[in-house]
Parts: sequence; C-alpha cells; structure tokens
Amino acid sequence: MSNYSIKNLEEYYKVYRKSIREPEVFWEEIAEEHFSWHQKWDKVLEWDFDKPEIKWYQGAKLNITENCIDRHLRMSGDKTAIIFEPNDPAEKAQHISYNELRKRVNQFANVLKDKGIKKGDRVCIYLPMIPELAISLLACARIGAIHSVVFAGFSATALSTRINDSDCKIVLTSDGSYRGKKTIDLKGIVDEALKDCPGVNTVLVAKRIQSDIHMEPNRDHWLQPLLDKASTVCAPEIMDAEDPLFILYTSGSTGNPKGMVHTTAGYMVYTAYTFKNMFKYADGDVYWCTADIGWITGHSYIVYGPLANGATTLMFEGVPSYPDYGRFWEVVEKHKVNQFYTAPTAIRALAKENLSYVEKHDLSSLKVIGSVGEPINEEAWHWYNDNIGKGKSPIIDTWWQTETGGIMISPIPYVTPTIPTYATLPFIGIQPTLMDEAGKELKGNQVEGRLCIKFPWPSIARTIWGNHQRYKETYFSAYANMYFTGDGAMRDATGYYRITGRVDDVIIVSGHNLGTAPIEDAINEHPAVAESAIVGFPHDIKGNALYGYVVLKEAGETRLHDNLRKEINQKITERIGPIAKLNKIQFTSGLPKTRSGKIMRRILRKIAHKDTSNLGDTSTLLNPEVVEKIIKEAL
Ligand code: WT7
Repeated sequence: MSNYSIKNLEEYYKVYRKSIREPEVFWEEIAEEHFSWHQKWDKVLEWDFDKPEIKWYQGAKLNITENCIDRHLRMSGDKTAIIFEPNDPAEKAQHISYNELRKRVNQFANVLKDKGIKKGDRVCIYLPMIPELAISLLACARIGAIHSVVFAGFSATALSTRINDSDCKIVLTSDGSYRGKKTIDLKGIVDEALKDCPGVNTVLVAKRIQSDIHMEPNRDHWLQPLLDKASTVCAPEIMDAEDPLFILYTSGSTGNPKGMVHTTAGYMVYTAYTFKNMFKYADGDVYWCTADIGWITGHSYIVYGPLANGATTLMFEGVPSYPDYGRFWEVVEKHKVNQFYTAPTAIRALAKENLSYVEKHDLSSLKVIGSVGEPINEEAWHWYNDNIGKGKSPIIDTWWQTETGGIMISPIPYVTPTIPTYATLPFIGIQPTLMDEAGKELKGNQVEGRLCIKFPWPSIARTIWGNHQRYKETYFSAYANMYFTGDGAMRDATGYYRITGRVDDVIIVSGHNLGTAPIEDAINEHPAVAESAIVGFPHDIKGNALYGYVVLKEAGETRLHDNLRKEINQKITERIGPIAKLNKIQFTSGLPKTRSGKIMRRILRKIAHKDTSNLGDTSTLLNPEVVEKIIKEAL
C-alpha cells in the first residue's frame, strides 16, 4: 500500500526516505493504486539532465480526463465538481456535477473535432474565469489536443506572440469579461491579435457580457449553438504517457516568453498527489484557489489536481475588491470553503483595508490556508494567520514554478510545523539542494545558496516548445546534472528551506549577499508601510548599495518623510543589521507589477541606475502608468 495521504511527521520522513531511496518503486506504487490506465508502463523513469531528457511512465496509455471525470461517475456522479462564483454576487452561483461536467466536456470536445482539431494540434484558449475555461482545457485533453492558455489579461501583442510561437489554428474566447465594475472587450483584443496570426482559421466565442461584437464571417462562431447540437458522448483519445498535455508560457529574465511543455502521465500523478496532501482534502470539502486558470496555479490546482481527486473546486470570476474588500471572505462564508489558496500580493492588499471586512464573515469552515507566487513577508504571514486562519488553520507557503508543474517545497498542513516565511520541507520525491556561485554543493545546514533540484520528479516540464536548446541552457547548464530554479534559498539548522527570492535579485553589498525578501519584510513591518521593493545600484565604496521603493498605507502620511526614512532603516538594522540599510528611499504611490502580481524589479533597477532610456518590454505590466511617475520622482 502506498502512502497516499501523509498523516504525521514521522510518516512524512519515512515516505520521504523511501521516495529518495527507491524513487521508481515509490512512484510506481502511487501511479498503480490511484489512477486508471489503459496500459501500464514498461519503465517508470528514464532521465538524463545533460541532454536533457526526462520520461516518466514510458509505455503507459491513458487519458487524463478519464482520471479527472469518468472514474468518479459511478460513486459520485452527482457530486459537485465545479462551483462557479460569478463576478457579480447578485448573479447565481453554478454547481456543475461530475455527470454534467462529463457531458459538457464531451460536447466541447466534439465541437473541437468538428472544427478539424486532432490529437497534437495546439488550441489557444483566451477565456475569462467562466466555466467554459475549465471545460475547454478538459475538452482538449479529451481528444489529445494540446492546450495553450493565455491569461485573459494579456494584451493583443502578448497574445499573438504566444499564438504564433506554438502555431495554434484555433482560438477559444468570449465576447468579453467582467472584472469588478469594468467590462473588458476580449473579442476586440483577439481581433487585434489575429491581424498578426495568419495560421488561425477558427475562433469560437462564448457569450458572457452580451455585448455587440464583430464576428468575422467564416472565421468566428458562437460557441453555445455548436455545443447545443453536439453529442454528449466522446470517446477519450488514448494518449501515451509522454504525449504533451499543454503548453504554458512563462516569462524569462530575457527574450520571448518560454512555452513550457507539460506531458500527460507524470503531470497527472504529481498534481493529484500533491493536491491530496497539501490541502488535506476530505470528501465533501469545498476547495478554493483564487488564481486564474491562465497561470500554472490554476491549471494544476483549480483543474487537474482537484478533479483527479474527485474534489469540489471553486472558480471565481471576480476580484478581491468588488463589490468591496470583503468579497473573498463573503465567498468563503457563502460556499463554506474548507481550503483557501491565494497569493501574498492579495493578502497584502486586503490587510491594508479595515479589519471589519474580514470580521463580518464567518470563516469557521476554513481548515487550510495557502500562499503561492512569491515569498510571503512576515507581516502578511501574521495577518493571514491571525485574521484568516485564526491561529488554527495552518498556512502552507507553497514554493514551486510554472516549470515544476506542482508544489515542490511546502509544509503539509497538520503534519509539518510551520515557521513564518519558511516554505519548510521538500515534498515527497523532491531532492532540493543549495549551490554556491562557484558550483560547489553546500552540504549541511545553516547555508544559503542557489536552489537546485538533483533528481527528476514526475511533473517537471519536459522542454520549451520549439526550443529545446533554450530549455537546456536555462535550467540545466548552470550546474551539471541539476535543475536550476533561478531562486535563492537558505536552509536552517533543522533543514527547513526559506526562499529568499530570485537570484537575479540578490544584491551584493560590501561583499555581503543580501536577499531582497528579508529586507522588504523588515521594511514592511513599519506600521506606515504597505509594500516595498529594493534593488541594488552602483556605489563607489560598497560596490552596490540599496535603493528602496516604498509605498505607504496612506499617501498623506503626515510625519516628515525624513523621519520615516530613519525609522525604516532602524527596522532593517533591527531585523538584519546595519549592512542592509538603504542608501536611498523613494516614497511612491505604487510599484510596477506584472499581471500575475509580481513586482517588475528590472524596471526599478533601471530607474535606480538612472538608466531609463530603454526600459525593455513593459507590455505585461498591470499598471504601466506608475512607471513614469516613479521616474519623475526618482532620487
Ligand atoms: C517563481 C515561479 C508556482 C505558481 C505561481 C508562480 C516564486 C513561487 C513561492 C513561494 C517564494 C515563490 C519563485 C519562483 N515563488 N512561490 N511560496 N515562496 N517564492 O509561478 O510564475 O512560474 O513563478 O515564483 O521565485 O521561482 P511562476
């Protein structure tokens, strides 16, 4: 019997050891006992990080949608698979049962087939967070088409680049989308993008906002009438374990976005197994991840991981601030959410608002609360712990990446004791290590270095679409026989990991390595501070000095800014030491952020370097207007 659900720390260590000593035996048991296969594998694992080539469950045949839908029907066909919570709280939520999901996925799959889509074809999905989005991923998987979801907040240029890179023939979109008070003309963006995409001959359009849009004759079709006519039966395409399931783009530090390719069997096994353990999902629970399906978090932990476990997964169309800052907590209360998974940027934004938005809702259903996407700063961790988890629901700070497919380092709730800002221990099967800049492995504890992974896990991305060389260079060339994550981390005396931020954000001041995250943590502890970002800038004596961009909670902060500067540096001195004090502190009204909420430090770095002639690609910024302001007010 495999240990599918880990119950205590002792069991964690036991299973972990087994997964390292006998990885093939371990992953074979998990795959055998918890999934359905048309044919078993000949070989569990074959790998070579030098080529690089990684193959899991070679020879196996399966369809992931049978694992996510069909196999649950006999016992739980009427169980809710997806709860759809609309942007407008006055609109009724939808509950889609597993039976209904099967029918809708099959109909969608048949429509795609009818439009000529076959196994291996790429399908671009540019849809808002409506049920059709989740259903369309599964419809592609049903027929073996490769989905390439583009977050429906990306611009026309970003969309056309991605469509062309993976040579999609078809685009799935909607007339528009709701985002709080605003509506967004998605179809207009698609029309604009397709001017540069000669390969696309079909666009299927879901109706969401009932707007009057242009429909290009022969190319554009309303989706619903086609679905209504389609059969609810669609035999699953039988796929090889290593057939691509999807492409998902992620930005690199330079160049075009990278189309990370995830394959079928390993991705399924790893996302399902991590979902089960990370969220301690029990039958009947309602699980909610607030991410958009346009990101890996949504692929793995709204769609595939939860559905492979027969869970009820909530998808939310709206934003945390609409109709007011209590919306998340209202939804938790309304649907009695048991597991809640969000990002530090959302937590910080909500923590800035009045606590009454939280207090008026009953959050007693919560059992596990999660964080993902960036290091969670200490202040946000405590706010989340005290006000949302009420000190009883453990926070799982889950470290992973688009490239890793699933959660890699995280506490297991009710198993791993948590420490604020620590992602804690590697998940089962994961072998992290820290390397120094000279390429030496840092053994033992209380060390800080570059985070690498020594051994393959089932859901590692297998290549970059159309550019295997770049895959090798980006992830496997920094250190021989290691997957390089691009992150820095420290390992404390007990073996716990703390992610310190991207290594490209590490700043060396007077010969000392300083991670940006701990310094920002210290700054954010100041009661007047909402958010901050630090970058390095050249300094005659120290080599680099620190430049801090600080957003205050109240723009009209009455105290003299110079006093505030002193107090902020005092905080840093207290938390890290005088070495980490900032040379310059610029107060600003906002930080440039990508649409996924990450601060774009590249731009801040350029401003600090007084080099603003070429800021590079800012097309993925959520708030480009803030950049001009920061430049004007720069010190
Ligand atoms: C990068 C990956 C994984 C889904 C969302 C982001 C940072 C992610 C954490 C965390 C510290 C984190 C890393 C990583 N990151 N989670 N819990 N603590 N840093 O996916 O866009 O591919 O970004 O996000 O720097 O490398 P992504």
